[in-house]
Amino acid sequence: KNIVVLISGSGSNLQTILDGCADGTLDARVTAVISNRPGVMGLQRAERAGVPALTLDHTLFEGRRAFDTALAELIDRHEPDLVVLAGFMRILTDEFVRHYQGRMLNIHPSLLPKYAGLHTHQRALDAGDTEAGATVHFVTPELDGGPPVAQMSVPIEADDDAASLAKRVLGQEHRLYPEVIRWFVNGRLTLRGDTAWLDDA
Ligand code: GRF
Repeated sequence: KNIVVLISGSGSNLQTILDGCADGTLDARVTAVISNRPGVMGLQRAERAGVPALTLDHTLFEGRRAFDTALAELIDRHEPDLVVLAGFMRILTDEFVRHYQGRMLNIHPSLLPKYAGLHTHQRALDAGDTEAGATVHFVTPELDGGPPVAQMSVPIEADDDAASLAKRVLGQEHRLYPEVIRWFVNGRLTLRGDTAWLDDA
């Protein structure tokens, strides 16, 4: 299976996918990594893995539609079976999302439906929550609102700040995302209507 990964930054989640493809735990290959921000570390990770590392700078486009149209063209040239959003910090148009419906996943650093959007860790702390976590979901037009596939949670410690909590959650993301992607690649995970379906191994 072919995977195209979209990033905006450090790409530590991307790294776990590249590693899985390299060591055979993921029966897939990353055909392109695309960043909307030039010069980010995730692009270096892709290059190091021998994967096309592409930049499509959203600031050079006249509005969201124009960017998303160009992005879809670029993605489709790399023939993905699955599009993985890994720290891709852009809201996508409905048209774009519909084009990849059922074959686009996102990871969000909260226990959805809690804390869609930004600043998830600070919001969990401010609310006095005792646990935080991450959710992988199919992408639908509603921001961070698509059908959830799987979650992992971590405890919130008394002396946590947003940075320490983000680090603990990110450690779980690195276990959760490759696992869910493996389900998809192995044909076990599908979107049926509004529900994420996981078939037995
Ligand atoms: C992760 O916390 C992810 O959940 C969020 O952005 C962060 C990306 O980290 N959407 P990285 O670029 O994979 O290191």
